[in-house]
Amino acid sequence: MCGIFGYIGNREIVPVLIGGLKKLEYRGYDSAGICVSKNGTLQYIKKEGRISELEKEEGLKKISGSIGIAHTRWATHGKPNEKNSHPHLDCKKEIAIVHNGIIENYRVLKKLLTDEGHKILSETDSEIIVHLIEKFYEGDLEDALSKTLKLIEGAYGIAVLSSKEEKIIVAKKGSPLVIGVGEKEMFVASDISPIVEYTKKVIYLSDDEIGIISRGKYIIKNRDGKQIEKDLQEIKWSIESIEKANFKHFMLKESFEEPEVIKNTIRGRIKEGKIKLSINLDFKKIKRIILTACGTSWHSALIGKYLIEEYSKIPCEVDYASEFRYRNPLISEGDLIIAISQSGETADTLAAIKEAKERGAKTLGIVNVVGSTISREVDSGIYLHAGPETGVASTKAFVSQVIAILLFSIYLKQEKGEEIDKELLLEIENIPDKIEKVLFNSEKIKKIAEKFKDSKNFLYFGRGINFPVALEGALKLKEISYIHAEGYPAAEMKHGPIALIDKNMPVVFLATKSSISKKILSNIEEVYARKGKIISIVNEKDLEIEKFSEEVIVVPETLEELSPVVNVISLQLLAYHIANLRGFDVDKPRNLAKSVTVE
Ligand code: M6R
Repeated sequence: MCGIFGYIGNREIVPVLIGGLKKLEYRGYDSAGICVSKNGTLQYIKKEGRISELEKEEGLKKISGSIGIAHTRWATHGKPNEKNSHPHLDCKKEIAIVHNGIIENYRVLKKLLTDEGHKILSETDSEIIVHLIEKFYEGDLEDALSKTLKLIEGAYGIAVLSSKEEKIIVAKKGSPLVIGVGEKEMFVASDISPIVEYTKKVIYLSDDEIGIISRGKYIIKNRDGKQIEKDLQEIKWSIESIEKANFKHFMLKESFEEPEVIKNTIRGRIKEGKIKLSINLDFKKIKRIILTACGTSWHSALIGKYLIEEYSKIPCEVDYASEFRYRNPLISEGDLIIAISQSGETADTLAAIKEAKERGAKTLGIVNVVGSTISREVDSGIYLHAGPETGVASTKAFVSQVIAILLFSIYLKQEKGEEIDKELLLEIENIPDKIEKVLFNSEKIKKIAEKFKDSKNFLYFGRGINFPVALEGALKLKEISYIHAEGYPAAEMKHGPIALIDKNMPVVFLATKSSISKKILSNIEEVYARKGKIISIVNEKDLEIEKFSEEVIVVPETLEELSPVVNVISLQLLAYHIANLRGFDVDKPRNLAKSVTVE
């Protein structure tokens, strides 16, 4: 999704802005641009396509200065082209803006501005912002922006630059913005990734706040225009953690980080046979739990339902956040709504949480990005501590989410005064070593990928707690390799998908040991009888399953409730190797954004 970066200081700006844009690439984009102010003039350049294309532009070499804004655009209104890319400038080319979010009433404002003579060049909703600022500008950029904000409806993260004022003004509503505070230099960005190499001190803007940043100084004002004090937060992520090290892709690096990530998720949370979580909620009042999320996080929510009901015996439902927010959900005070989100910025998940709060429910966030909007919106939360996830296809956040939900489920049981199974706690601590063993299989999985990389379709089957793993395996494959894939509970096969099975259909079975292993074996036989090409994930050499399988991936045995985190690793690697062998840009799949901050 679109990315914003801005800088004001004493460095020569072009390398800073281009470097910052590269750090935002992972969010997904289709065009990029920068605008720099120097000696009363705005210099700008925009380009459709990759930042590497922008870098090749001759015009870029002519730009110099030390105040500027930059943007990566992910098209929503209007095609991905140079004209629609940001920054957008006013008619006199004296003011420039970059914008994330959607201006819902842009059509009426566009008409008004056009009638007044403004020349609006793009098809975007964003461009009207700069013309409104131009309309209101009487020598005070902040005042002109405040008047503009009163007129626009929708979501925005905005950074504004003027050729006449040595400052960048930023404003936020529903789209994240963070200010990086350095020594005599300031940064602004839509997330911390372009900031962290310069400073670890940041301020997260809240909705309706405005930030005025100049060299070595920042001022934050609330919606009434009153200056407010905000705490500086310390970023814990290092620059190394957001770089690729020696891996070809972030996705592979992040998959190989999974053992460490789980250690970080459980660190300090399992102590002396107990779960320690600092959650500020009265659990006695909770009568029902609703998990809400999108995409991969929704799959961990599905696993969460099994875990929460198993351990806490509290009824639990799972809802797509996008559906929950619009289906007029019946919510009462005894409900706890849990939002699961890697980024903590997903617009639908955020809206679901707001909806739940308005209806009187308590809210909890299971979020990776510290200080993100969802983490600030909820009543209480559990951070994943998975570190920055850059690959668009979520990997390490998924396993971390499942572990966090498991800890929470056991915690609920503990809060009821019930005995905790020590063997389970021990096994959670053993999981990183087991995942390590699956990662050793990477080369073998690559060979399987070579065999199946040209398949047109894939089916994934699992049962019980591994059904959501089948969904996640299919999602990973379609996201990055563009092969059509579906996940199903294995028993559903006979109700439809079985019609698809022939000699060209690879079928992945999650067939590790479980209370229903025997049932899975019958499903495998049914596929075999129809000549489907079976790839089985099993726990040990299982001669019976091997007899029917074209390929077998052996993974360490664990408790059934922990099997999703061990099993999913092979599916992530399979998707990765297939996509890589097909020659695709694994970390930046087409049409996808890392953080989906619009509806
Ligand atoms: O940041 P979130 O966890 O809220 O993101 C939710 C989905 O957009 C995300 O999981 C998406 O499905 C990923 N691309 C999956 O790999």
